[in-house]
Amino acid sequence: MITESTINEAIEALFRGIEFQAQPAGLYDPLRYMIAIGGKRLRPKLCLTTYGIYADELTPSILQPAAGLEVFHSFTLIHDDIMDHSPLRRGHDTVWKKWDQDTAILSGDVMCIDAYKRIAQAPASVLPQAVALFSKTAAEVCDGQQMDMEFENWQVVSMDEYMQMIGLKTGVLLACSAEMGALIGGADAASQKHLYDFGYNLGLAFQVADDYLDAYGDQQVFGKPIGGDILNGKKSWLTIRAYEKGAVEVLEALEHKADTPSEQAAKIARVKAIYDSVDVAADARAAISSLSAAAVEKAASATMPAEGLASLKNFSSSLIGRNF
Ligand code: IPE
Ligand code: IPE
Ligand code: MG
Ligand code: MG
Ligand code: MG
Repeated sequence: MITESTINEAIEALFRGIEFQAQPAGLYDPLRYMIAIGGKRLRPKLCLTTYGIYADELTPSILQPAAGLEVFHSFTLIHDDIMDHSPLRRGHDTVWKKWDQDTAILSGDVMCIDAYKRIAQAPASVLPQAVALFSKTAAEVCDGQQMDMEFENWQVVSMDEYMQMIGLKTGVLLACSAEMGALIGGADAASQKHLYDFGYNLGLAFQVADDYLDAYGDQQVFGKPIGGDILNGKKSWLTIRAYEKGAVEVLEALEHKADTPSEQAAKIARVKAIYDSVDVAADARAAISSLSAAAVEKAASATMPAEGLASLKNFSSSLIGRNF
């Protein structure tokens, strides 16, 4: 069993010392920037946490795949910020904003390839499974992102359709991270799957929390502009729940055009007033708790020592404990 503080120190060192090709600087500087501006490093942390339940030593054959998960995640954010027209990420300018869209596209592409190189450093004995798991996951994230965008133009999106979409865009990468650690750590096949399900449910809780914070968070802590989902007309958890509760006017409010900063502020205030009228914020908090409890239940089915399960419970509560 590897302790949480050892894992945190290893992650710190891993990203402080991470190297990308030097030239052409115009291609690789955005990668260095994206990693340097931080983020919570949840996916590598989850991977090392499940690994540390079954193994005792942090070697490059786990550290590099763990880094690959973060590099892949950061790549998806570079492209997501173009798609969501988002100017701020991790409290800093997004890559397309700091450089331009063409740079963000190509730097994102090479970052995805860099992630594969790191995943490919998994031990030879599990390499085919590791690459298959990662490739399946990477394609599913794209499926989810496509659904997310298409939903902007759908009149009505059901809660089931929304949950399927967030399972793909967010759940599967946390699931893959948890399974990757267990796979490389030497867990039995059934436990690997239970830990995949743990990560998946945690990812659902995490994305509902992200939607909640997009409307109700503090920009200083969240690192992204508040109200971005509303301005993009996203079918977020809050919107879908408000519609379910009879506040059907939310759809029209969400479609309303807002170009100037004052129109945008008015639109955000109007949509949030509709959310408040049916108190979807409280429902979101309840959904986040129940999804994270479901995650812990999945983890409890895996074969592991009691302290392993305690570390996953701790991971889950620190993850969704952010500002609720
Ligand atoms: C942002 O992920 C995208 C979502 C899946 C909600 P994180 O909230 O993990 O972003 P960073 O890595 O900490 O910046
Ligand atoms: C998750 O969705 C993004 C990815 C899976 C890449 P969001 O669009 O909600 O993420 P943020 O809020 O921009 O971080
Ligand atoms: Mg998005
Ligand atoms: Mg986004
Ligand atoms: Mg979001």
